[in-house]
Amino acid sequence: MQRLDKLLSEAGVASRRELKAIIRAGRVQVNGKTVRDPEQKVDETADEIMLDGAVVGKKRMVLLMLHKPAGYVTSTDDPRDQTVMELIPEEYRRLGVVPIGRLDKDTEGLLLLTNDGAVNHNLLSPRRHVWKLYYASHEGLAGEADMAAFEAGITLENGETCLPAKLHPLGSGRSLIAIREGKYHQVRRMMAARGMPVTYLKRVAFGGLTLGELPLGAVKEVALETVQSPPCDIAQAGSRCFFP
Ligand code: URA
Repeated sequence: MQRLDKLLSEAGVASRRELKAIIRAGRVQVNGKTVRDPEQKVDETADEIMLDGAVVGKKRMVLLMLHKPAGYVTSTDDPRDQTVMELIPEEYRRLGVVPIGRLDKDTEGLLLLTNDGAVNHNLLSPRRHVWKLYYASHEGLAGEADMAAFEAGITLENGETCLPAKLHPLGSGRSLIAIREGKYHQVRRMMAARGMPVTYLKRVAFGGLTLGELPLGAVKEVALETVQSPPCDIAQAGSRCFFP
């Protein structure tokens, strides 16, 4: 059971504030009876809810791509920092979208958001091994020994080992890195473990979705079916991405 105004706002009908007025005006019926209390509890699986005589459908499921700028935390709420939710238009926030995984405050790039619990779970599930591709500027020069170490599985500073990953050097101090898990600060820690501290990090692709030319700070809705987990060809994926 949940509040009538919350359920209608999550269905994308209007904002909570607008809905209070709509409900008080007698425009909403639950099981054929007019309800004027926005806080009335309803059962979204059993009750028939109508607005202006039309049945209100179930929540619209969406998948969003955000080009996250540095300086925003991946959180729905934070007492100190700006959150990525501040970059999401109200029409999507009303639908209850949440970030799929995290990017560090200092990391830029592709952050996906959804209100579809199954998509969220599938993209994050360690068993699915969905590839994420990063561009890094870093100290030092990545070479064949580093590529082999990534393939073998990097051991982090705390003794934890990573799944086999891919490193594709682009020249002095620039590399592409593909990983398929999401440990805390993983790319930065993997590169540090090879003596190549990261100075700039950007996620350019996630599960076959690439950032493309989406401007910094912009949001784009994509079809839910777009996300798959294709095998990772790092050089080919990198050729479809734009680096600083
Ligand atoms: N790895 C990192 O170190 N930071 C991120 O934001 C994502 C992956």
